[in-house]
Amino acid sequence: MKKSPDISIKTPDLIERMRIAGKLAGDVLTMIEPYVKPGVTTLELDNIMLDYIENTQHAISACLGYEGYPKCTCISVNEEICHGIPGARKLRNGDIVNIDVTVIKDKAHGDTSKMFIVGGHTTPRNLDLVKVTQEALYAAIRAVGPGKDLAIVGKTIQGIINKTPFSIVRDFCGHGIGEGFHEDPQVLHYENDFHVLLSPGMTFTIEPMINAGTWKCRVSTKNGWTATTQDKQPSAQFEHTLLITDDGVEVLTWREEEAGKLDRIIHNS
Ligand code: CO
Ligand code: CO
Repeated sequence: MKKSPDISIKTPDLIERMRIAGKLAGDVLTMIEPYVKPGVTTLELDNIMLDYIENTQHAISACLGYEGYPKCTCISVNEEICHGIPGARKLRNGDIVNIDVTVIKDKAHGDTSKMFIVGGHTTPRNLDLVKVTQEALYAAIRAVGPGKDLAIVGKTIQGIINKTPFSIVRDFCGHGIGEGFHEDPQVLHYENDFHVLLSPGMTFTIEPMINAGTWKCRVSTKNGWTATTQDKQPSAQFEHTLLITDDGVEVLTWREEEAGKLDRIIHNS
C-alpha cells in the first residue's frame, strides 16, 4: 500500500480548530432547513447563510471568491450534480436539493452537504436516490479508520450502488482538507486502485454524488461551474469532513439530527 508522504498528519491544535469549523458548517445546514420551502429562490437561501456565517458565526465562506466562485454556498437542484450557483431559480414542491457549505474559522476548513426534499414529498425514485446516497456515505465513513486503505471508500460505495439502478459520478471526488480547502489525497467514490494507508490525524471528505441515470456530466459553458447530468435525470450528494483517530473515525461535521443513524465518533479499528 502507498505510504503517501504527501498526505499531512494534522497537529492537535489544527484538529481542534477543524472540530470547531466542522461544527459551524453543520450548524449552517441545520439553520437553513426551515427556509428550504417551495417558492424560495436559491439566492435568498444563499444570502441567509452568508449573513449567518459572517455575522452570527464570525466565520468565513470558503467558497466565496474561491477560484472566482461568485457565491457563499453551492445549491444544486434535481439534475444539477454539484456547484449549482445560487440565483433566481425558485424551489418547487418535490425538488431534491443539495446545499454544500464550507466555512473557515481560525484558518481551519469544515466542508459538508446534505439533501433537502422541498415540501417534504417527492417521487419514490427521488426518495430512494436520496436515501441510497446517504447510506453510501455512512457506509463509507464506517469503513475507514487507522490501518485501513483509503480505496475502501470507493469499494464500499460501488458495492452499494451496484445493487441499485443508479450510477456513481466519476468527474468529482472527495479531498484532503485542513488549512487548505482541497488538499491531497483525492478520495474516489468508485472502485479504484489508489491505495493509501490511513493514519491517525489525517482529515479528508467523502462526498459521493449518485445519479438516477447516467454517471456522465456536463459542466455549464455559461457559468463554468455547474455540473448537470447529461441525461437531465436527478442526482444526489451528501458530504462529511472526517478525522482518522487512534481507533476509528470522527465525523467533524456531524449534526444532532443524525443521532441514531450515524455516530459522531466511531470505534472500529
Ligand atoms: Co468537499
Ligand atoms: Co463541499
